[in-house]
Amino acid sequence: MTKEQIYDMLREVLHPGKGDRNIVELGMVNAVTVTGNKVTVEIDFGEHRDPLAEYITGSVRAAIYRHTAAGVEIEVKAASKPKEEPKKKSVKDLTMDELNNVRHIIGIASGKGGVGKSTVAVNLAVALSRLGCKVGLADADVYGPSVPIMTGTEGEVPEAEEDLIFPIEKYGVKWMSIGYFASPGQALIWRGPMACNALKQMILQVRWGVLDFLLIDMPPGTGDIHISLVNDIPMEGAVMVTTPQDVALADVEKGVDMFRNEKIKRKIFGLVENMAWFTPAELPENKYYIFGKDGGKKMAEHFGIDLLGQIPIVQGIRESGDAGEPAALGSGPDALAFLDLARKLIDSAQ
Ligand SMILES: Nc1ncnc2c1ncn2[C@@H]1O[C@H](COP(=O)(O)OP(=O)(O)O)[C@@H](O)[C@H]1O
Ligand SMILES: [Mg+2]
Repeated sequence: MTKEQIYDMLREVLHPGKGDRNIVELGMVNAVTVTGNKVTVEIDFGEHRDPLAEYITGSVRAAIYRHTAAGVEIEVKAASKPKEEPKKKSVKDLTMDELNNVRHIIGIASGKGGVGKSTVAVNLAVALSRLGCKVGLADADVYGPSVPIMTGTEGEVPEAEEDLIFPIEKYGVKWMSIGYFASPGQALIWRGPMACNALKQMILQVRWGVLDFLLIDMPPGTGDIHISLVNDIPMEGAVMVTTPQDVALADVEKGVDMFRNEKIKRKIFGLVENMAWFTPAELPENKYYIFGKDGGKKMAEHFGIDLLGQIPIVQGIRESGDAGEPAALGSGPDALAFLDLARKLIDSAQ
């Protein structure tokens, strides 16, 4: 028995989930060792749970068994253990299966509008992607969908196949927004349950594929729509965005309470303090604490949550948002702040 012969046998093992291509061709065979009477095959099922792993393991055994003499010992090992079981389904919906390939579903929330929640969500998505993660972002702000403009994808129309919508891909991120289907004025008509259903569709009926992070730009506030969203989408937790003023404290409290609520009970990954200080472009070393210093830090301590990041007010952040080229794509202090935030989130999601 040579290694080559074993590889030939393994070419007979097809992966039904991948267009019936064989596992050698798919690069799933990590190693083959033949020692005396024993064959060991190491198969890479990927970081995410391959639902057909058991089936493939059995087929590998059978293929080798068929071609070798009696008494050969066969061992099939998985190269990387699936990290976690897929999340429990909370909505009995076939389309929900799409979300089983997503490791972390995280809401980006704020107690009120205008604190830069969408800016943080979009730039965090880009930064996570720059760090090598597979990322999607669903814009769940029906009342003010801003992802199309912030990513320069307005006017694009997502394709659909059967019941699934394909996200728009740009800057290494998969984007979905109600803004792709309705003009801003139109979206305003969608209130109450109708808005809620449309929203869920923007998240559940999307072909996200395999993702490390799916960020959800939540609508501002803490109303029924939020509770319903968090209940129906298997959200692992939330990142809270705030500005450092004292008035923001009360809003953050509402947001924190919402996720800690008995019925919701989701993890709060931490707080992002946006507009933490002002830095003029011509004096990048200078920090002006217009809204006071360390507001975010104190707030995080007060609620017993982590301060994940502090983002300065930089004119470029607004300009790049308006121009559809997120600041996180660049190399300035603003981009570094978002990359730092992304790194902290990756650590905290481990
Ligand atoms: N750190 C920042 N520096 C400069 N402008 C910012 C910053 N964060 C947000 N903005 C600007 O503030 C406005 C509101 O931000 P946005 O992300 O739409 O807030 P929200 O989603 O919370 O309503 C936008 O014009 C945005 O470009
Ligand atoms: Mg917004």
